[in-house]
Amino acid sequence: MKKNVLFMTFVFIVSVVLAGCNNSGKPAVTENVYPVIPKPVKLEPQRGRFLFTSDTRITYYPDNGELQNIGEFFSGMLARPAGFTLPVMVAEKDASVPNTLFLSLDTTLSMNDEGYLLDITTRAIEVKARTPRGIFYGIQTLRQLLPPQVESTAKVEKVAFSVPCANIEDQPRFPYRGLHLDVGRHFFPKDFILRYLDVMALYKYNTFHWHLTEDQGWRIEIKKYPKLIQIGSCRKETVVGHWKSKGENKYDGKEYCGYYTQEDIKEVVAHAKKLYITVIPEIEMPGHSLAALASYPQLGCTGGPYEVATHWGVFKDIYCAGNDSVFSFLEDVLTEVMDLFPSKYIHIGGDEAPKDRWEKCPKCKARIQAEGLKDEHELQNYFISRIEKFLNAHGRNIIGWDEILEGGLAPNATVMSWRGIKGGIAAAKMKHDVIMTPGNYCYFDHYQGDKDKEPLAIGGFLPLKKVYSYEPIPAALTPDEQKYILGAQGNVWTEYMATSDYVEYMVYPRACALSEVDWTPAGEKDYDDFVNRLEANLQHLKVMGVHYRPLDE
Ligand code: ACM
Ligand code: ZN
Repeated sequence: MKKNVLFMTFVFIVSVVLAGCNNSGKPAVTENVYPVIPKPVKLEPQRGRFLFTSDTRITYYPDNGELQNIGEFFSGMLARPAGFTLPVMVAEKDASVPNTLFLSLDTTLSMNDEGYLLDITTRAIEVKARTPRGIFYGIQTLRQLLPPQVESTAKVEKVAFSVPCANIEDQPRFPYRGLHLDVGRHFFPKDFILRYLDVMALYKYNTFHWHLTEDQGWRIEIKKYPKLIQIGSCRKETVVGHWKSKGENKYDGKEYCGYYTQEDIKEVVAHAKKLYITVIPEIEMPGHSLAALASYPQLGCTGGPYEVATHWGVFKDIYCAGNDSVFSFLEDVLTEVMDLFPSKYIHIGGDEAPKDRWEKCPKCKARIQAEGLKDEHELQNYFISRIEKFLNAHGRNIIGWDEILEGGLAPNATVMSWRGIKGGIAAAKMKHDVIMTPGNYCYFDHYQGDKDKEPLAIGGFLPLKKVYSYEPIPAALTPDEQKYILGAQGNVWTEYMATSDYVEYMVYPRACALSEVDWTPAGEKDYDDFVNRLEANLQHLKVMGVHYRPLDE
């Protein structure tokens, strides 16, 4: 039996907590539970509880604006339900004093930059980390140890805001812990995106992949090309139910529009930064680009006319690879995108780009000849590599779906492996970084229960347990190659998710399971223990008003 199984047991019944053990001074009988998700690397339960009162102070050391912000994040959160505001102040020295939550940086700690130590005693709480980001994650753990009413935005009566004593040492397994959202098929308002980020932060996700352009809608304002919004952000109607490639389809006859202004995007990026989340924008190319072609038909091989798509699937009309003005257009778009998003990575799509039009297009054929390319697959590589060169010259790196392996891989590209794990294995063997998002473990648009009892979804079957079972490192990789696997991401394609509530239903609690895949050492994972913690942990989401799918009985 592993040494710390005993420590990690979900319910750690602490004997009677006597007067004096509790800084409220009142005797209480307490059952200490530790419903933390993702599961910390090491958690040693201790007796007793720390109670936050109106006399508690939050202090930080050294004097650091980020620590102050994190202290204020926690103080602000607790103030709403508790009705008192903990003052946040720089500590006089590097040591805790009674009745404080003390945040301190310590670069001598032997953990990675996202790790933290959390020491909760009846006297005080200390969070230590090498970086403010680590402190932020320590605070998320503390948040999950508080009663779920801590998430309330209104005052709550008769709840003691106390946390069980513990010594926690924690750090993530993977540096990339991502959640994606497709806002092309359906558009979700800015306020929902802000909340999506809030929930991600609770589970220590650090990357939001924002899929902003699609056949069915262009969702990001680009000042130089106003028609992308005037035309590309609206479709005239939407298919009802599953789209059938053969046979009759029914359409709803209702125009569907939506986009984010550049001001909206700045607000989202700023909010994400406060939550230590990087936003990676995706601008799809060369495929999934019908909304852009409808706006500027000269960007396609045939010159159009084109229409923003009204049903789902893969479309043959894609950006023309033989036309230099396509590259100028994309470079202009990406220049505005880079101004909005400070992320190291820009996702350029690359998936599902049929070559039918390129095969027949004189300009594309001329490009193949002029560049000495073998075929249209090499033309796709030319396309992606040309864009990569542009982004690299501006200090950014590209991520693409695993189709970017076709016809050769752009020199510095990171590959997102979605058609199973083969693409990820191939890329890692070529010494390229990889993010694992295989459909059968990471696609949160698949059904999570009995199809007949669930709302309409695209298909597939991905129950919670299967997400939890995912191991991102393919067995086929040598230890050296394994280093290229940066982490895993959950993908949320929204063809069949028309409302924000339904997005939350599809994402949670599956994203809780994936957070543990990304964070917790593989050998420490235990599904039954996870489900026990989840039952209590979900109460936080309930108070936040998240429309998660209830656990099966
Ligand atoms: C994808 O699911 N088409 C990346
Ligand atoms: Zn062409």
